[in-house]
Amino acid sequence: MLLRIPGVYPPQDDTWLLAAALAEQPWNIHGRVLDLCTGTGALAVRAAALGAGDVTAIDISRRAVLTSRLNARMHRRPIRVLQGDLTAPVTGERFDLVVSNPPYVPAQRDRIPATGRARAWDAGTDGRALLDRICRQVPDVLVPTGTLLLAQSVLSGVEKTHVMLEEQGLQVDVVARRTIPFGPVLTARRRMLASRGVIDADQSSEEIVVIRGRQHS
Ligand SMILES: C[S@@+](CC[C@H](N)C(=O)[O-])C[C@H]1O[C@@H](n2cnc3c(N)ncnc32)[C@H](O)[C@@H]1O
Repeated sequence: MLLRIPGVYPPQDDTWLLAAALAEQPWNIHGRVLDLCTGTGALAVRAAALGAGDVTAIDISRRAVLTSRLNARMHRRPIRVLQGDLTAPVTGERFDLVVSNPPYVPAQRDRIPATGRARAWDAGTDGRALLDRICRQVPDVLVPTGTLLLAQSVLSGVEKTHVMLEEQGLQVDVVARRTIPFGPVLTARRRMLASRGVIDADQSSEEIVVIRGRQHS
């Protein structure tokens, strides 16, 4: 069970797909884990429950940080929860595993919301505002044998993520996929996305994937 302050992203299919991948993929269980864009802290708590001794969670939202701290305490997990923009709060640190379920929904405009619930999902017109930054920043916080597990929709360019991570020197593959029905946000954006050619006019589901990027040791 997870507590959730109003306005914080409730764990949903993408969270659980990533949580399952976290449990299935080999990673240094005794190593350091970073949960980027932690929300309720669901993935940080899961990593700690799987045995990770050292877990750090980051979110830009004050409410999410408070929620994660409450969940860490409730689950009796010693998780360090930091407020900030992506990897900025851990500059200079290195992690064995980075997990992230960032905002990736294509939006009406490129400007990212500075506050409010939509900050948890809106990611610019192509859905890549956070994904591109994560692809660029994460290699700098991974140890030489480190792994990234990143969730996103196929609507926001899996191939681009693949190419960007490979350009950063990572070995990349897709380790999990699930097709899910559109939720309220995508349902409301169907016409806009169809007019841009991102989805078919009658489309009502999207595929979520978990991308793994591994540093060459
Ligand atoms: C899709 S939610 C995922 C939450 C949680 N990881 C999960 O899977 O349930 C994305 C989260 O990213 C956070 N976020 C948005 N922009 C961010 C940024 N620049 N730096 C850190 N966190 C950010 C939001 O506040 C939100 O909690």
